[in-house]
Amino acid sequence: MFLNLLLQIFRRVTFYAPMDHKVHLGILLGFTLLSLIPEADAQRCPTTCRCPIGVIDCSDRGFTELPNVTRPGTSSQLSRVDFSNNILTVLNIDKLFEFIVGLQVDELDFSSNMIAEVEGTFDAADGKDYETLNLSRNAFTEFPRNIIPVNHARVRFIIDISYNSLTELTTEMFAVGDDMTLPGFQFIATNNMISVIHPQTFQGVDLLDSIVDLRFNNLMSLSEDFAPPRGVETLRISNNPWRCDCNLRWMINFSNRLVNFTEEDPPNCETPVSVRGRPIFQLQANDFACLPFRSGPIRQNFVNMDTFVVRCPVTADPPTFDLRWDVWLPSPNGADPIQLCFNSETVGFKGLQTNPRAAFRCTASNNAGSVSIALEVLYNGQQGLEVPEDPLVPIPTQC
Ligand SMILES: *[C@@H]1O[C@H](CO)[C@@H](O)[C@H](O)[C@H]1NC(C)=O
Ligand SMILES: *[C@@H]1O[C@H](CO)[C@@H](O)[C@H](O)[C@H]1NC(C)=O
Ligand SMILES: *[C@@H]1O[C@H](CO)[C@@H](O)[C@H](O)[C@H]1NC(C)=O
Ligand SMILES: *[C@@H]1O[C@H](CO)[C@@H](O)[C@H](O)[C@H]1NC(C)=O
Repeated sequence: MFLNLLLQIFRRVTFYAPMDHKVHLGILLGFTLLSLIPEADAQRCPTTCRCPIGVIDCSDRGFTELPNVTRPGTSSQLSRVDFSNNILTVLNIDKLFEFIVGLQVDELDFSSNMIAEVEGTFDAADGKDYETLNLSRNAFTEFPRNIIPVNHARVRFIIDISYNSLTELTTEMFAVGDDMTLPGFQFIATNNMISVIHPQTFQGVDLLDSIVDLRFNNLMSLSEDFAPPRGVETLRISNNPWRCDCNLRWMINFSNRLVNFTEEDPPNCETPVSVRGRPIFQLQANDFACLPFRSGPIRQNFVNMDTFVVRCPVTADPPTFDLRWDVWLPSPNGADPIQLCFNSETVGFKGLQTNPRAAFRCTASNNAGSVSIALEVLYNGQQGLEVPEDPLVPIPTQC
């Protein structure tokens, strides 16, 4: 009992004490207790790190690579291995586990380094596993697939890769092992530059009770065949520049339950301007509009017709939009053409015996914006007036 207590005190004193005192106390007590020091723990703590019980704290030590360690220890439990705030550029998994081999580690903290590369593999079968891997504030431009353990034997699986420079999440990113189940899955990838999520990113593996946090990225759209993790509970996708056009309309379909996964933190639209700031799941189907586009010939030739109707060759999704016509007619006395404007679906002419020599432009507008189409209207093959250059000021929808 006494020995035990003494040992505890010794460990606390040596391992918590500031550097120069540590040597001192170590020498003082070391002579009397040397034979009682658990040798493995001492060896396991790299010289410049602090090792309170259950923790290897190598944070803020200016390491450019993982320190060397000479001898592996005996088996016990580590709640945290902390290499945060160093200048590591590579996470070398095999080397890391050389000095923590045999220990079950809950949290590996490599946040705030300059890591862009991961070497080696995690594999519970080799004793290289974790519950939480923190790679926040590093230099990743691509997701390092080898951070996913080949075998995983813990009840939680948390990866924090926030504040990196990821641009996309790729196919079946988490599927490394065979028939893997990753319970308690949390994937934190906020504050990257992710603009593309492959629909199968979270497939090929059973991710249970998942929390996926993709806030503060560059997501504008998401493919309709996007498959959330099987056991998703929470999907955080707010604070992305969502473009709520017709391609995103599928999101509000209740059958995909995206509304439920995101209700904790509902995403808003960034564009089009007409829906900026509106919560995606409060929009109606027809609010998701794509810009009207041309869907027919610009040149329309009317042959020997006394009466004719000019149609605007345009379509949109949804198929409702406002249409405005600008028509220029030659002035009878040779002055500048006369400009007329109509809000109607078509423009008709009646009782014309000769070339009307008119110029036509139609403008279709919806939530997403406006598209103007200058028509080439011919009468018996003869060209009419030229449509004037687009005016510099935006065309109002209504005349
Ligand atoms: C670790 O050991 C290797 C080879 O023995 C050596 O090249 C390297 O410089 C050592 N690293 C440190 C941080 O001491
Ligand atoms: C990762 O480290 C950062 C910075 O130290 C911290 O803010 C964050 O909470 C950590 N993430 C997890 C999942 O613990
Ligand atoms: C919603 O999704 C279901 C299943 O994919 C589909 O059958 C249905 O047509 C969709 N509804 C709308 C309004 O898109
Ligand atoms: C999804 O959310 C809706 C509305 O909040 C709710 O009525 C529905 O029961 C939820 N569905 C599931 C499967 O949680």
